Amino acid sequence: MEQKREEWRSKMGFILAAAGSAIGLGNIWRFPYMAGQNGGAVFVFIYVIFVVLIGFALMLAELTMGRHTQKNAYGAFVKIKPGSNWRWVGALGIFTGLAILSFYSVVAGWTVGYIFKTLRGDFTGITGPDQLKNIFGSFVANPAAAIGLHALFIVFTVSVVIGGIAKGIERLSRILMPMLFAILVLLVIRALTLGAGVKEGLEFYLKPDFSAVTAETVLTALGQALFSLSLGMGAMITYGSYISKSDNLVTSAGYVAFFDTMIALLAGLAIFPALFHINLNPEGGAGLVFMVLPLIFDKIPGGIFFGTGFFLLLSIAALTSTISLLEVPVSYLIDEKKWSRKIAAIGTGVIAFLMGLPSAVSQGASGFFSNMPMVKLPFLDFMNILFGNYSLTIGAFFISIFVGWIWGINNAAKEVEQGNPTFGYRNMWAFTLRFLAPICIFITLIYIAITGKFF
Ligand code: TRP
Repeated sequence: MEQKREEWRSKMGFILAAAGSAIGLGNIWRFPYMAGQNGGAVFVFIYVIFVVLIGFALMLAELTMGRHTQKNAYGAFVKIKPGSNWRWVGALGIFTGLAILSFYSVVAGWTVGYIFKTLRGDFTGITGPDQLKNIFGSFVANPAAAIGLHALFIVFTVSVVIGGIAKGIERLSRILMPMLFAILVLLVIRALTLGAGVKEGLEFYLKPDFSAVTAETVLTALGQALFSLSLGMGAMITYGSYISKSDNLVTSAGYVAFFDTMIALLAGLAIFPALFHINLNPEGGAGLVFMVLPLIFDKIPGGIFFGTGFFLLLSIAALTSTISLLEVPVSYLIDEKKWSRKIAAIGTGVIAFLMGLPSAVSQGASGFFSNMPMVKLPFLDFMNILFGNYSLTIGAFFISIFVGWIWGINNAAKEVEQGNPTFGYRNMWAFTLRFLAPICIFITLIYIAITGKFF
């Protein structure tokens, strides 16, 4: 007899865990870095539209597939359309999860490093942008630190994933997110009262210049919406498979999307005023927030305390995200290949570690990986765009078509209606999955292909 699948202990338990997956470096590190490189406010505007129009519908689609099939990202496609090629969408998702985990863990390692740097007082009495750049630059260019912390983070992730779903993940997510939120609010308040530069920062962040929109801006904003909500690769299929049949999937998805977007928007509200205050370039790349945040903490009484606490909480937020990334291949190996959870977690952890090595040395330690031929980007930035933008976008395209047309809205809606009999959003959902999302994504990718600016 098959064992009953593990379940989240309560609806709140699921929301916290899914929010834990969604909220992470994507909100606080990636969002400002992408916004800074893509014209600021116009990017933010398109990102929010994508969250509301496409992200929410897709989150519901993934959760529904997971709960209906009780399977992992790959097995869900197989169960709904056995023997078809749709399983390759699941396979792409699993590979994408590993690829994202590989560089994400490097950045998470920097975050851990910043706990200690802040505590040690490295950031007290900052005088100018060069100092912030130098501290960050020499830290990430040190291969031993970058690789060691990346390894440490993979080890943390693997240990939690071995502990199993309900016990490991729920417990962590429960208490810490509200604390992270509180420090973020404090940061926003301080950033908005810095004086010089605040107005320029707010304009950059909130006053869109629509003439600057390019296909790349649109693709990046879509990629960011998917990345931040953990969509497009089956993480939410996997998490959905642990949801109880009596939960309301629509409201669950709504809460997660709302909290996630709030955190990102708040992070931007702290970072851009401070960035203009100290005259840093918004296109500063992957190190952007690691240069700006210490500055704000330095200008808060008790900044060492809050700063250390912030980087600690951010590391934990990153951990609840890496858990969900690793859970995708792990639950595939458990369901489909009958591996034990322990062996699956360790095996995939080792792969993600090795895949992350080029990213770890790409910020100055290795000349080759720090400025890759052809793309002219550090390896980490390249992976971030390739998997975070392209792969998730392509995954989202196929998942919406799959649920909208292949599995079919009627079948999918039946699953949603368990736990939500009225399902008022149904028609809009059908329209989004069948037309809006695939067409938007298709047009964007065609434009990118025509303009030829892929990276
Ligand atoms: N959403 C997380 C963040 O914003 C990262 C993440 C976790 C993710 N799981 C994912 C991104 C699955 C894409 C797909 O930090």
